[in-house]
Amino acid sequence: MGRRTLPRWPGMELFASAMDVPAPTPLPRVEISKLAGLVGERVRLTGWLYNKRGSKKLAFLEVRDGTGVVQCTVAQADVPDATWQAAAEVTQESALEVEGEVRAHPRRASEVELGVTSLRVTAPSVEYPISPKEHGTDFLMDHRHLWLRSRRQHAILGVRHSIVRAIRDFFDTRGFTLVDAPIFTPNACEGTSTLFETEYHGDTAYLTQSGQLYMEAAAAALGKVYCFGPTFRAEKSKTRRHLAEFWMVEPEVAFLDLDGDMQLAEDLLCAIVARVLDARRTELALLERDLAPLERVQGPFPRISYRQAIDVLREAGHDAKFGDDLGADEETLVSQRFDRPVIVHRYPSEAKAFYMKRDPTAPELALCMDVLAPEGYGEIIGGGQREDDLAALEARIDAHHLPRAAFDWYLDLRRYGSFPHAGFGLGVERTVAWLCGLPHVRETIPFPRMLNRLAP
Ligand code: 4AD
Ligand code: MG
Repeated sequence: MGRRTLPRWPGMELFASAMDVPAPTPLPRVEISKLAGLVGERVRLTGWLYNKRGSKKLAFLEVRDGTGVVQCTVAQADVPDATWQAAAEVTQESALEVEGEVRAHPRRASEVELGVTSLRVTAPSVEYPISPKEHGTDFLMDHRHLWLRSRRQHAILGVRHSIVRAIRDFFDTRGFTLVDAPIFTPNACEGTSTLFETEYHGDTAYLTQSGQLYMEAAAAALGKVYCFGPTFRAEKSKTRRHLAEFWMVEPEVAFLDLDGDMQLAEDLLCAIVARVLDARRTELALLERDLAPLERVQGPFPRISYRQAIDVLREAGHDAKFGDDLGADEETLVSQRFDRPVIVHRYPSEAKAFYMKRDPTAPELALCMDVLAPEGYGEIIGGGQREDDLAALEARIDAHHLPRAAFDWYLDLRRYGSFPHAGFGLGVERTVAWLCGLPHVRETIPFPRMLNRLAP
């Protein structure tokens, strides 16, 4: 390595000493996450300056590259003047290239640092707007494109990624087929009050609120299906758990009833939590997440009926009565009774979406369920068994004042071999908030869309 090999020709030896010069070999470029196994090696890093401190003769540059953060120590005595100067002048978030030797961190036992031999600023960053001091929420949201570089956001996005992978693995290893649902839709799924409307070649289209109706069609074709994509709600509420655009995974299963649906939801949540505990300890520690409540997330989850939930509320001094919706506060009160997620089933059908099947033994109730996360996080899953009787479904569509024609295709599913089926939707952002212990869903998605936020 490092020597140019030249073709041989007669008399070449006369020139050999002049031509056979060692070419400068660039050091291997290594990702920061791989440094731990390379103590004693010389390497090259590329990244950005995260933070800097120093003394008269030493500069400590915290360099990040997306895979991690490492301390790069520059000793004035060991480097050329130009390098020392560069270390003194480099500013926060400048892009840079550093070379040096990997060595044990002088104070933190399990970590390594880089003893710098060369430093090159490849692109400066002048007056980076986010300084290490505290900033307000609005400021950070306005600078979201830069704030993503923070250690905290890095950790949250890592957890989110593991949650998404756990979800896909869960369904893919259980014989489900991923079926993509459309984003432009001609009709409402979850009620008309939260639709985003858009012009569609002279027609009106709505951004999807849920892929469910399409998954019901796909379940008749493939048996076990799921869609996983963005969904949209024109929620007028400004709460810590509502976004205008959020990601939802929606399984739908043919010949599954409400009990089977609850079991599927429980198994999915256990798989997600186990994966995050396994793969994201470092991130959870950085977020100062208490692990004990997450470690308790094991089946079986308690299952209580809506009526029992109302009783729990009344015992807690709340004046709830049958027919009331359970809002965030009520959900918190109910879930406080349990040390793991609780499944509340059979809500009054009056308050619920048109497609929910009624309980044959109590028609005022819907065969639906919500999973409430503990620690006050509330509903993360909503779903249930679907109405599979054509006449009953037509009556529900009329009762909800929905246009029959728009649902004609959906009614076909009841005309041609109707079948019992159930499914649910899990909101990714609420799940991330819960697992990371975050107070607001705006932290859980890279670029949140909310009532008063469309930028950046
Ligand atoms: O309870 P929802 O509205 O159920 C449905 O959309 C069904 N069609 C799903 C199905 O059965 N296939 O929404 C499901 C989940 C909620 O439990 C919540 O986690 C999340 O989606 N969610 C939201 N997340 C963030 N912001 C919002 N505005 C949300 N609305 C619902
Ligand atoms: Mg719901």
